Amino acid sequence: METIIEAINVFKHFTGRKPGQVIKACDDISFSIQKGKTLGLVGESGCGKTTVGRVLIRLLDPDSGSVLYRGADLVELTPKEVRPLRKNFQMIFQDSRAAFNPRMRVYDTLKESLRLYRALKAREVRDEIKNLTSRVNLHRGLLYHFVGNLSGGELKRLDIARALSIHPEFIIADEPLALLDMAIQSQIVNLLLQVQQEENTAILFISHDLKMVRMLSHTVAVMYRGKIVEYAPKTLITENPLHPYTVYLWDPRSSDFYVRFFENGCVYKNSCRLFHKKGFPLMCSEKQPKLLEYERGHFVACHFAK
Ligand SMILES: Nc1ncnc2c1ncn2[C@@H]1O[C@H](COP(=O)(O)OP(=O)(O)O)[C@@H](O)[C@H]1O
Ligand SMILES: [Mg+2]
Repeated sequence: METIIEAINVFKHFTGRKPGQVIKACDDISFSIQKGKTLGLVGESGCGKTTVGRVLIRLLDPDSGSVLYRGADLVELTPKEVRPLRKNFQMIFQDSRAAFNPRMRVYDTLKESLRLYRALKAREVRDEIKNLTSRVNLHRGLLYHFVGNLSGGELKRLDIARALSIHPEFIIADEPLALLDMAIQSQIVNLLLQVQQEENTAILFISHDLKMVRMLSHTVAVMYRGKIVEYAPKTLITENPLHPYTVYLWDPRSSDFYVRFFENGCVYKNSCRLFHKKGFPLMCSEKQPKLLEYERGHFVACHFAK
């Protein structure tokens, strides 16, 4: 399988508002995404998902670590060297409204993107815009509407059409479904799946909802406070979740308590049912467990995973 993008031991810490506070948004993150495959990145709000996405396409410089794109380390490249690679990456955000100029017409929005990234003749631009709108099932009648007048679902389709206009090799979809209602969500999921099949796109799909992630992903990385705590093919995450946090994400009702121990040791222990059940083992308070392979391709960071 052909690896498109790979994060290797990426760290990105921020200074918090309180004095001396360090926010570990990425704390030793490693994973890879293959051509035509989706990695689902799941975790609660604030755990560092967006930061991972931004570092991956060099919108943000990591403190340390590497990001390999087709084997070349993006972290080592100058901004000028990164720029021509940009057209291979596209990002679809949660809030599509913020990603567009509301006073521009749909047609001109797509035209601008095509102009920027692809050398097409006027006639080809027109054909390509027709082609794009029909692929994402955006009604042709909307082409001359202002972007600001589109509904949430229409905007998301436009966002995807714009991403597709440059044939990216890699798409980051950062909570793309969060502001849409259920019926539209499933349409967008199907659209992303269809795009991936047609273009063999590698996708990083970011969400706080494990059930949503499961629909799209081939592999799932579960993140908690800047760390990947479980990383495995979707089937194993579904059938045999080994980290207590993954178990909780499948059934949020299963966590009904909260203890406040020190911050050192395992990042999850204060919310961990197992830590509680086992009588607060010292090991969990003393040492962050390493992400280890428990069965083929199934990595877990828990002292008590078996
Ligand atoms: N530019 C920044 N400066 C300071 N803190 C930041 C910055 N960007 C993100 N953070 C903090 O890093 C943590 C992770 O943020 P983020 O990656 O947006 O999480 P998620 O996408 O999982 O909700 C949060 O605590 C957030 O407040
Ligand atoms: Mg985010």
